[in-house]
Amino acid sequence: MYRTNTCGELRLANLNQEVTLSGWVQKARRFGGMIFVDLRDRYGITQMVFNQETNAALCEQADALGREWVVQVKGIVAERSNKNPNIPTGDIEIIVSELKVLNSSEVPPFTIEDETDGGDDLRMKYRYLDLRRGCVRSNLELRHQMAFATRSYLNDLNFMEVETPVLIGSTPEGARDFIVPSRMNPGEFYALPQSPQLFKQLLMVSGFDRYFQIVKCFRDEDLRADRQPEFTQIDCEMSFVEQEDILNIFEGLTKYLFKSIKGIDLPDFPRLPYSDAMRLYGSDKPDTRFGMTFVEIKDLTTGKGFGVFDNAEYVGAISAEGCANYTRKQLDELTNFVKRPQIGASGLIYVRYEMDGSIKSSVDKFYDSDTLKLWLDRAGAKPGDLLLIICGQKEKAQKQLCELRLEMGSQLGLRNKNQFNCLWVTDFPLLEYDEELNRYFAKHHPFTSPKTEDIHLLDTHPGDVRANAYDMVINGVEIGGGSIRIFDSELQRKMFSVLGFTEEQAQAQFGFLMNAFKYGAPPHGGIAFGLDRFVSIFAGLDSIRDVIAFPKNNSGRDMMIDAPSTVSQEQLDELHLNIKAISK
Ligand code: AMO
Repeated sequence: MYRTNTCGELRLANLNQEVTLSGWVQKARRFGGMIFVDLRDRYGITQMVFNQETNAALCEQADALGREWVVQVKGIVAERSNKNPNIPTGDIEIIVSELKVLNSSEVPPFTIEDETDGGDDLRMKYRYLDLRRGCVRSNLELRHQMAFATRSYLNDLNFMEVETPVLIGSTPEGARDFIVPSRMNPGEFYALPQSPQLFKQLLMVSGFDRYFQIVKCFRDEDLRADRQPEFTQIDCEMSFVEQEDILNIFEGLTKYLFKSIKGIDLPDFPRLPYSDAMRLYGSDKPDTRFGMTFVEIKDLTTGKGFGVFDNAEYVGAISAEGCANYTRKQLDELTNFVKRPQIGASGLIYVRYEMDGSIKSSVDKFYDSDTLKLWLDRAGAKPGDLLLIICGQKEKAQKQLCELRLEMGSQLGLRNKNQFNCLWVTDFPLLEYDEELNRYFAKHHPFTSPKTEDIHLLDTHPGDVRANAYDMVINGVEIGGGSIRIFDSELQRKMFSVLGFTEEQAQAQFGFLMNAFKYGAPPHGGIAFGLDRFVSIFAGLDSIRDVIAFPKNNSGRDMMIDAPSTVSQEQLDELHLNIKAISK
């Protein structure tokens, strides 16, 4: 038997028991005639003691131990004189009577402790060692708990987990596909699914009624902190439901996870129509942990000779509480922040509402105090507050003001990681116009249904049609999104035509779905949550990389196995790919 107990288990209640533990040597240190070894496994760390006086031979063995060696020890549980309140086993230690080395280890390239000296790249290259660190492992334990609790919640509600294929066909809408050449079908390619969207809809046609799957999805997109090329969805679909049913069930799932895993009771989630989200926050995923909502002041600014505002389509402001005392330097820094190419504002105008009630602004030349006071009043500013104003083309200026609002929220400490503000953003536009390609794209996907009352606008004002689509947002992160689907072939055909597909193109790309819809498709809808994002929010982390066991870096590389990699000419030839192999 390798062990009687784990390294995280023993307490004072186990005093004087003879135990056997197995694990990794985290650290060994000698104090005079005593050697202390921290033994670590998945469950914790327990201190081993070797005494020179009572067992010199054993001490000699212990002296030879290196970091990360795998050992088995036998000994008696004793009370520690020097207790460690920071670990659950800190009251006891094991007086070792036998030590067996199960495996030695090379010196690891970084220290395997919560505080490590390993940089990002090194830790990714040796991810299997990084995963030995308690703080990294605990993120994966949390992920497991969330996936497990999700399965249990959905199973109790009659959802059935069904696996859908990973080798499917490429579709033109959405993000870029990862494609896989087919050896048996020369010149043809599979694509990896961006989501199981079409299959889950087909399962509804099959009468499965309630489907879910915790499933890998693949998107060849530019990577960011909240995006990986392969990520995991909690993917769901339901029949005979309306939007309200879906929101209730998945709000329920979210509340259940917060309660069962974090012990947090969440209030009901507010619902915010997309148009309000854009008007108040300049974002379809607003961080509602703090206010500082936008006010539009264009009407109060025109006609006073300030061309910048006069020529702008939109003039928007936020009021930063207690910031009237910002120094020139701080204001310059904010201006530089919004002028960075990633944000792209042409400038920043401010109005200080001093504590004594006086008003000073960067546009004093054009506006008197009475006019500036109107702006302040509209923004609900009080003496001591600072009004920050951005203007320009409406959508662009709103996005810039959104970035500024988030920055101010961070600077003012209003984005507390232990506070969770969930909301539904609803009534998304059905379509989005692409200026470059000169055509409409489905904002969500081409199977999302328009609101019944807006269908008549499809021909005349397609851009104004609202969809039965919704996102769940927590602390400014889009955690999930879904929609009620089109289940009527005629409406689906109409949608493809608005999207610029010819009858033949639609048939070639989505014929199987349209055919399936001829055989009695039920009304249906669904949603998918990004599991990685969900876990990272729970863990209070900024990047989803930290909640994925083996993530890719920002260039889409797996540093550990060094993928992607070149392949041999034989492999390429076998796949009928007319390309020359690159040798590295
Ligand atoms: P959508 O494209 O909105 O919807 O994706 C659902 C959720 O998946 C997560 N997500 C990602 N997470 C990490 N890395 C990525 N590259 C990435 N892309 C998306 C987000 C997002 O909210 N089939 C539809 C759902 C439906 O209509 O039922 C879909 O995939 O958290």
